[in-house]
Parts: sequence; structure tokens; C-alpha cells
Amino acid sequence: MAIKLSDMAQKIKPSATLAVSSKAKAMVKEGIDVVNFGVGEPDFDTPQNIKIAGVKAIESGFTKYTPASGIPELKEAICEKLSKENGVTYQPDQVIVSCGGKHSIYNLLYVLCDAGDDVIIPAPYWLSYSDMAVMVGGVPVIVPTSEETGFKLTKEALAEKVTPKSKVMILNSPSNPTGMGYTKEDLRELVGFAIEKGIVVISDEMYEKIVYDGFQHASPASFGEEFRDMVITVNGVSKTYAMTGWRIGYAAGPTEVIKACGTIQSQVTSGPNAMAQKAAVEALIGDQSEVPKMVAEFDKRRKVIVKRLNAMKDVSCVTPIGAFYAFPNVSKHYGRKLGGKVVENSIGMCNYLLEHARVAAVPGEPFGADDHIRFSYATSMKRIEEGMRRMAKALK
Ligand SMILES: Cc1ncc(COP(=O)(O)O)c(C=O)c1O
Repeated sequence: MAIKLSDMAQKIKPSATLAVSSKAKAMVKEGIDVVNFGVGEPDFDTPQNIKIAGVKAIESGFTKYTPASGIPELKEAICEKLSKENGVTYQPDQVIVSCGGKHSIYNLLYVLCDAGDDVIIPAPYWLSYSDMAVMVGGVPVIVPTSEETGFKLTKEALAEKVTPKSKVMILNSPSNPTGMGYTKEDLRELVGFAIEKGIVVISDEMYEKIVYDGFQHASPASFGEEFRDMVITVNGVSKTYAMTGWRIGYAAGPTEVIKACGTIQSQVTSGPNAMAQKAAVEALIGDQSEVPKMVAEFDKRRKVIVKRLNAMKDVSCVTPIGAFYAFPNVSKHYGRKLGGKVVENSIGMCNYLLEHARVAAVPGEPFGADDHIRFSYATSMKRIEEGMRRMAKALK
């Protein structure tokens, strides 16, 4: 007899980015040479000083349960980082350490949303936001943005979606998947308007240090007391320090919200991985010299991939100012018969590229932007050149 899954389990889709990357990996295992632009993680190794801190923790026996909301040493390091780099002062009891930033965001939505509450999400968006909103009983309210506004949400577009049900808005700057970044002025206006309406803002700043062309990242929680009361800052070590597998992220915000997240975490996961927390202390307040080196390398690749995409017939790509993704519009090719099949949408395009060009990209559909596909340029320059050559040929 088949086991019936819960209605909720049946509503949630698996992460499309992980799905593409596992299909590409399976092809590679079969000996097929795939250029993989699917992965959302730096291709660099975790810096040595951070690895050593993790090893030291293991060797010194730091291998047991930690406090559910994270070790005091890491919370203090996070407070120090937020104060120095983001201009916002928190006490350790206003910080929670989770098993990745993803986990922090889920906890936040869980403690903030009642059934039927609206979660405002500007599109294109990081695909987990909408599924996580559904998982906590919330209603994702997607607000489209356009290439013309550089994928930025405007106050006017936001105002149209605000209702008494609006509870939370999730902003992500720099953005996955578009690479867009809001300026300080943009954020002051947008976040200021949201909090005036009583909307809590989750500011996902995961890519804050991976920025280009002198872009200045800003944290809305630093804009003043009334902002700090309604903004929760989420960040983590995954992207900046090439630590995706260590699973450490965090949230900082009003004490009662963070305390509630800690309670949930204590019942569901207990504390995050002990040695990874020690490594994260080193990541945040230890030697930072590897970060600009990684960013400089991403920058070189960014310039090449954007140029190559824009040189392709009927492909256009807005230049990203942050993160490590290019998000070209390929919709002019929809309706074409490619590889014996009509390509109808971003999923069709990605399947065509994977099967016929051996290039793995992620469809824009689950990011709320079906005209686009996402390329992660966290791969070597040589592979970027090769992948772009294959794609250009396949679209000719
Ligand atoms: C925008 C954004 N936020 C949060 C995360 C979560 O990162 P992690 O759970 O590894 O800390 C990711 C990872 O892809 C991301 O792209």
C-alpha cells in the first residue's frame, strides 16, 4: 500500500538549482563532458585559516552539542562584524546562528507568519523564498520587476501589493539570480515605505561582499532605530568564504523574534554543527585576505560571460553588480524548433542546452522569470569560454 504524503509535502517542489546540478553531475559521471553553470557555490576551496580553525576544533574535542542558537563566541563575532562592517549594533541575544542562511530564513518566516499572511517577494527571486513561505502557511505575493528598472522593485509597484495581510517582505541585495544591487537610497525609500506599512523586512545579504565596479552594499537595519525594529538581517559564511558545505548562517534582529527562532531551532535541529561554528568565527573575524582575491576572479569571469552572452543572437544580459550569476533573457528563442523540439520556455531551453550543447544552466521559471535562464560563473574561465562557445553554436 502506498503511503499518502501530507498535502504540504505534495505542494513543495524540490530546489531547481540542486536538480539541474545533480542531472549535470550524473551526466559527468557517465563520462559526458558537461559545462556546469548550475551550481550556486564558489568553486574555490575554503581558505586555509578557516579550515585549520575547524580542524583545531575537532582535535580539541569541540565535537558535542552546542547551545541551540549558537555558541556565544560566534554570536559575539557576528555582532563585531555587523557593527564594524554594516554599521548596526546588536547584542548576542539578538543573533541566532543556524544551519545555513536558508535555515535562518525558514525560522524567521515560521515565527513571523500566521496562516494566510502575505509574504511579499520581488521577482526574480531566490527560489526557496516562495516555497518556504508556503511551508509556514503564508501566501507568497510575487511582485514582478523588469530589466528596464534593472530588476529593482519600485515603491509604486510595492504599494500596489500592500494589503492588511502583508506581513513580511524579503529583499535580497545583491540578488540571486539577477546580480542586481539596491543602493542605500533605494533601500531607504523601499524599506522605509514597507515599515511605515507595518511590514517586517527580511534583508538577505548573503552576497554583500561579492560586488563589483565599486558598488557599495548597504544594510537597511543600519538606517536608524525605526529600521532596526522592523528589519531582520540574514547573512552567512557560505558564499563569501566558500563554505557552502559547513552550513553556517545567521540572523540578527529584535530580541523577541530571535528568541522565538531559537525556541524553534531547539526543538527541530538543536545547535548548528559545533566545529563549523568555530570555523565561522575565524571566517568572520580572522584574516580576510582571500575574499578580495576570490571577488577579483569572479569579476574577470563576470565581464567575459556577460560580453559573450550579449554577443549571441537574440540574447540580452543585464550586467550584474554583485553575486556570481548572469541572468540573460533568452525568450526571443522561444517558439523556435531546436534539436527537433519547439522550445517553449526556460525549462525547454535548459533541457535543449543540456542535451544538445552539454551546457547546464538553471531555468528562470522557478525564480519567477521564465524569459530568463541563470548561469553561475563560479567555474573556471576556460570552462566559461567553452560553455559560451557551445551555447552560441547551439543557438545559431
Ligand atoms: C540569496 C540567497 N540567500 C540565502 C542562501 C542560503 O545560503 P546558505 O544556506 O548556504 O547559507 C542562498 C544560497 O544559495 C542564496 O542564494
